[in-house]
Amino acid sequence: MALDWIAKEPDYMLRSHTEDAQVHTGRELTGQWTLVTGASRGIGAEIALQFARAGSDLVLTELPQLMDQLLEFARTLEEEHGVEVKCESLDLRDIAGIEACISAMEQQGVELSYLINNAGVNLLSPALHLSQEDWDFVVDTNLKGTFFLTREAAKSMVRKKRGSIVMIASQHGVVGNENRAPYCASKAGVIHLTKALAIEWAKYGIRVNAVSPTFVITDANEQLIQDPHFQRSNMPKVPLRKFARPEDVAQAAFFLATDGAGMITGHNLVVDGGWTII
Ligand SMILES: NC(=O)c1ccc[n+]([C@@H]2O[C@H](COP(=O)([O-])OP(=O)(O)OC[C@H]3O[C@@H](n4cnc5c(N)ncnc54)[C@H](O)[C@@H]3O)[C@@H](O)[C@H]2O)c1
Repeated sequence: MALDWIAKEPDYMLRSHTEDAQVHTGRELTGQWTLVTGASRGIGAEIALQFARAGSDLVLTELPQLMDQLLEFARTLEEEHGVEVKCESLDLRDIAGIEACISAMEQQGVELSYLINNAGVNLLSPALHLSQEDWDFVVDTNLKGTFFLTREAAKSMVRKKRGSIVMIASQHGVVGNENRAPYCASKAGVIHLTKALAIEWAKYGIRVNAVSPTFVITDANEQLIQDPHFQRSNMPKVPLRKFARPEDVAQAAFFLATDGAGMITGHNLVVDGGWTII
């Protein structure tokens, strides 16, 4: 598609602040749309809840096998928070599916203000045992799919000259750790992608930021995190001596996405209890 509708302006031109310089007041996102990927559970569900509380309508995506769970969650959000929630089946490894999902949303009149790239996968394996399939599973989901969804969603933001994107990366994109080579590489890629897009899209009034959590206690990994061996080997690396909760990540994502962070772009906010400062 030709992109010659993109407005050009001289690079010395001063722009006025378009954001509202207020922070969370309750329902300040009423009438705005937020897309959250991987939203049926864990951190994604908590992010969706945070935006619903602020009055935002939502597009929530999930893998086909988790759509029932997502639909049930969506109905709860609608009932309890009075927002509209659209649910889309989306596998980030399917680039044509990404384009179809965004196009379907546009045809339904959805104009995205916020995109939260939450969906991601990990695979624990010694690097020497990794297959090409293992590598592609992690990197195609976390990095390639995230980029192509961001590209599609950003097109309407460019047209409006306003929008905000948050990537959920990881402390493992900042520091290394064993048995996670594709995860560390993909999350480091996401953090740097954040900076590259922030520079390229600032001229369209689009901000792009990342949140990088330490281990987060979710239903899926609670057992692992409660394991004494896991705690002995990892807790000494966290100066605050606690792991993150989904709401710690959701609040950071909400802050970076919304107007309270209107002067912040290209930033990677670590939510790591100090892990990465050691
Ligand atoms: N839980 C942690 O300790 C932790 C720490 C740092 C960063 N993160 C990151 O936070 C994000 C959410 O993690 P979580 O802990 O809630 O994990 P989770 O597994 O509960 O959630 C991930 C979501 O992504 C979806 N997903 C997986 N593959 C997908 C694909 N190919 N296409 C579309 N959706 C897909 C899953 O269905 C799920 O809903 C991930 O990006 C993860 O890397 C998690």
